[in-house]
Amino acid sequence: MNQTILLDIIYLIGSVTFILGLKMMGKPDTARRGNTYAAFGMTLAILGTIFLHNGPIAPIIYGMLFGAFAIGGIIGWMVAKKVKMTAMPQLVSLFNGMGGACAALISIMEFHVHAGDPKTIMMVMAGLIIGSISFSGSMIAFAKLNGNLNKNPKIPGYNIINALILLITLGVGVYITVAGVTDFMWPCIDLALALLYGIMFVLPIGGADMPVVISLLNSFTGLAAASGGFLYHNKVMLTGGILVGSAGTILTIAMCKGMNRTLFSVVFGAFGEGSAAAASGGATGGSVKDISIADCAVLMNYSKKVVIVPGYGLAVAQAQHVMHELEALLEERGVEVKYAIHPVAGRMPGHMNVLMAESNVDYSKLCEMEDINPEFETTDVVFIVGANDVVNPAAKTNPASPIYGMPILEVEKAKNIIVNKRSMAAGYAGIDNELFYNPKTSMLFGDAKKVVTELVAELKTM
Ligand code: TAP
Repeated sequence: MNQTILLDIIYLIGSVTFILGLKMMGKPDTARRGNTYAAFGMTLAILGTIFLHNGPIAPIIYGMLFGAFAIGGIIGWMVAKKVKMTAMPQLVSLFNGMGGACAALISIMEFHVHAGDPKTIMMVMAGLIIGSISFSGSMIAFAKLNGNLNKNPKIPGYNIINALILLITLGVGVYITVAGVTDFMWPCIDLALALLYGIMFVLPIGGADMPVVISLLNSFTGLAAASGGFLYHNKVMLTGGILVGSAGTILTIAMCKGMNRTLFSVVFGAFGEGSAAAASGGATGGSVKDISIADCAVLMNYSKKVVIVPGYGLAVAQAQHVMHELEALLEERGVEVKYAIHPVAGRMPGHMNVLMAESNVDYSKLCEMEDINPEFETTDVVFIVGANDVVNPAAKTNPASPIYGMPILEVEKAKNIIVNKRSMAAGYAGIDNELFYNPKTSMLFGDAKKVVTELVAELKTM
């Protein structure tokens, strides 16, 4: 078979596996398989490109290529194997930054080949600018999430300065393209400007807003890779880039929608930083009622239906395994148990699904918000573990609240509400939660893992 046709078939298989893989990643029970399919397609596409794109190449180049694969593959494998679930956002950010760096490096290397040709140099400059912004922005996001950088500096006129840097970066890119510049100094200047913009763009954004920013930067990397696909007339690189770009964009929009915030407010406004949000949310006050482990165990044991609402605190405490144990114990006693999964519970998309899947919870028990909300009225006990904003009724009742309009889990409709958290402290949005003062609510204070472990032990004695 003709090499070009064979390569086209390989690229087609690669593109189909990417699309299939992405689709399968939408559901917890098919996500792992989807990941494997896409990884297989990517491996096939890379090998096809190496062996069939340009015909045979010098053995030393093969050695360098496979040496780089081995080093990168081993490092990636080891890091991904070891990473804790709570550190996943920073890992995604780091890997995403590598993608951006690749796109920027390809562009700078290709500059002298295409310099002076406006059609192709336009793609080189797009890859260079977008890839560099994605790289430096992702590195700042990584440092913030990893706790290496805790500052969110907001100097006066910050947004104007940023807009100016972006305009100059784009202006230099347009100048290089239109004027047919061949001097290598110019793309280097633009590279430096784009890197600076990436840093300045992410630096003032609060750490808790990082998942949205990472998703946005992810879509940038996709676009940068797609421009590489144009440059090399490589269909699979183009398809992969477009898929990453569009998936990142859809995810960014979904996260903003789930939090009822605009992308503009995430990028340009401070949120979840405490005081300001707390003030506008309005403190609710009142008295709260405690419940003991023993009383809680009795209540659950004699219930027909218990719904567990996992949140960020459950992830922090790593209480997912003992939570599954509690669920199994209750089911053994004839109690129906379900999990209510809010789309933005936790700190990254699908956080709770991944967390509960890790502890082998049956996927059919993980209920989406729209499906579980009508069921709260018939629920005897709703057990909220380390969740706060996603169950805050202010989202429906208080137009002054920063989360007003955010869809929430309607837990207040349940017959009994038990909230586990360590204190009365606020969640991500920095606001008080009137649910805690609801007469039907009992607070079970303490670290989630400790409390659920004690609950399991108590239930075993009954
Ligand atoms: P939060 O509103 O952040 O509340 C988490 C609660 O967990 C806190 O109030 C905290 O109270 C408690 N907690 C912390 N450590 C704990 C531990 N070891 N044991 C028990 N409780 C503990 O979480 P949520 O309800 O999951 O809401 C998620 C928030 O993140 C939303 O506002 C959402 O918009 C935002 N967000 C989500 C995403 C995505 S994509 N998921 C992205 C960006 C932002 P104590 O300190 O009193 O224990």
